[in-house]
Amino acid sequence: MTIAAPPITDAEREALLRAAIDAMARAYAPYSNFQVGAAVLDEQGRIHPGCNVENAAYPQGVCAEGGALSAMVLAGGRRARAVLVVGRGEGLVTPCGGCRQKIREFATPDTPVLIAGPQGVRATFSLDALLPHSFGPEHLQKA
Ligand code: THU
Repeated sequence: MTIAAPPITDAEREALLRAAIDAMARAYAPYSNFQVGAAVLDEQGRIHPGCNVENAAYPQGVCAEGGALSAMVLAGGRRARAVLVVGRGEGLVTPCGGCRQKIREFATPDTPVLIAGPQGVRATFSLDALLPHSFGPEHLQKA
């Protein structure tokens, strides 16, 4: 049985947004000119930001979400209670397929993934809505 994760508070949402917007300003995106920021709330209530870092060898660039998750792991965090992604433009800046899987490693199906623009949160999805029928660490334990 999956126990539902407690919802995040307004203060946590606001702190995630601030951290992700600050991170977006530090993005290194000279090729796409598309800056993205992300922030992960861990099981201890700490927030870990990340930004996209592009590379002249294009495929070597990394997404904001991956950077934020790496920062969480480095700080000793092991659970993502919520993830927020912020970017500019008309369309919702939802995580790419690879990042959905990266989030999956540290999340549960009901983990909220908040999508924001500079003005605030625009949409919230559960991880399961973004990555249904996903493969994760439990599959390896049961094999
Ligand atoms: N990007 C992210 O960092 N996260 C997303 O959720 C979507 C895309 C980055 C990758 C690349 O540096 C730029 O945005 C354009 O795709």
